[in-house]
Amino acid sequence: MMAFDALPELSLYVHLPWCVRKCPYCDFNSHEAQGDLAQAEYVQALLLDLESELPQVWGRPIISVFIGGGTPSLFAPQAIADLLSGIRARVRVLPGAEITMEANPGTFEVARFEGFRQAGVNRLSLGIQSFDDRQLRVLGRVHDAAQAMHAARSAVEIFDRVNLDLMFGLPDQTLPELQRELTQALAIGATHLSCYQLTMEPNTMFATRPPAGLPDDDQLADMQVLVTDTLGPHGFERYEISAFSKTGARCVHNVNYWTFGDYLGIGAGAHGKISSADRIERTLKRRHPQAYQDGVLRGEATVSREPIGVSSLPFEFMLNGLRLVHGVPVARWRQTTGMAVGDHPFLLERLSTAQEQGLLARDPGVFRATPRGLELLNDLQAIFLN
Ligand SMILES: C[S@@+](CC[C@H](N)C(=O)[O-])C[C@H]1O[C@@H](n2cnc3c(N)ncnc32)[C@H](O)[C@@H]1O
Ligand code: SF4
Repeated sequence: MMAFDALPELSLYVHLPWCVRKCPYCDFNSHEAQGDLAQAEYVQALLLDLESELPQVWGRPIISVFIGGGTPSLFAPQAIADLLSGIRARVRVLPGAEITMEANPGTFEVARFEGFRQAGVNRLSLGIQSFDDRQLRVLGRVHDAAQAMHAARSAVEIFDRVNLDLMFGLPDQTLPELQRELTQALAIGATHLSCYQLTMEPNTMFATRPPAGLPDDDQLADMQVLVTDTLGPHGFERYEISAFSKTGARCVHNVNYWTFGDYLGIGAGAHGKISSADRIERTLKRRHPQAYQDGVLRGEATVSREPIGVSSLPFEFMLNGLRLVHGVPVARWRQTTGMAVGDHPFLLERLSTAQEQGLLARDPGVFRATPRGLELLNDLQAIFLN
């Protein structure tokens, strides 16, 4: 039985679903923009959607906002300003809350960075992927390396907090090439780096026609070591499987996800997770942008609102929590599930299994993967499946 002493922190995710062109590796809910985007209409739909969610979160403050995509930087600064002021008029966003926006390094977008800052964005997350023209072409990116560099430099001039997304494990990528990418990223002065291993996601162009020259598992393992060993001495701590931050610069929003906090999700295809007195629900919005906007007007933007069953809680909690290199305090289980660890026999049994297999640390205060558990994270997470 779930019974909360207090509800967990609440974040807000806002999805803007358009891109200039669909990248062949990407399975995010993103759609090629056809002609001019009806930005004002979409912002209105988002705010109506937010209003419809208010009864689920009455009075709770928002600790972080994340405007993701798609490519949110396709929206004009004025649209982002209207969105953020509309959000603030409807929910209490805590003073100093982290407000992240994702941006692509296209030239016309860089010219808008200052406008995004004035609109209230205080953290920019830039999709660099690579500083190598050959790789950027293979990845089907609309920008080249010079534009990536220019965008990254402009971002750190304008924002105190900047994340750069990079990918490794690219076709024919060598360790020296990856080293060069990292050196270039480090020179920019960002506060946060996300280094993702390129994965072949189902239903993408790459899944049907994978590029030639992808590294094997041993090469990938060497690359991961190179990333961690190169960034560490420059003050970037690996705090999550793919996330590296300078001191005090962790992404508040993502840490809230990874520690099973609550979040409202508005926008096409957005997911949410909301706790109330005796249950936790997951929500999902209509995926296609037009269907979503039409749905909002009819009060039917949400396609599903499902409770998380008690039996699924261990997997739901561990799936993200064990991605954190330092793990999650055991006390967080009670805070976010409303249950004592000892009241969940399946959890207790699986914790022992994971420890016996050497994948979970034997630490009474923290659920934390061992170094081997981090390497075999999928196996560790699967132990908690019910
Ligand atoms: C939603 S995208 C947002 C950023 C922005 N639209 C862009 O692409 O520049 C978030 C990030 O996920 C990463 N990503 C997307 N698909 C991936 C894949 N198949 N494998 C690894 N990383 C991926 C990319 O680094 C990307 O920047
Ligand atoms: S990677 Fe970014 S730019 Fe490319 S399709 Fe996905 S969301 Fe759009």
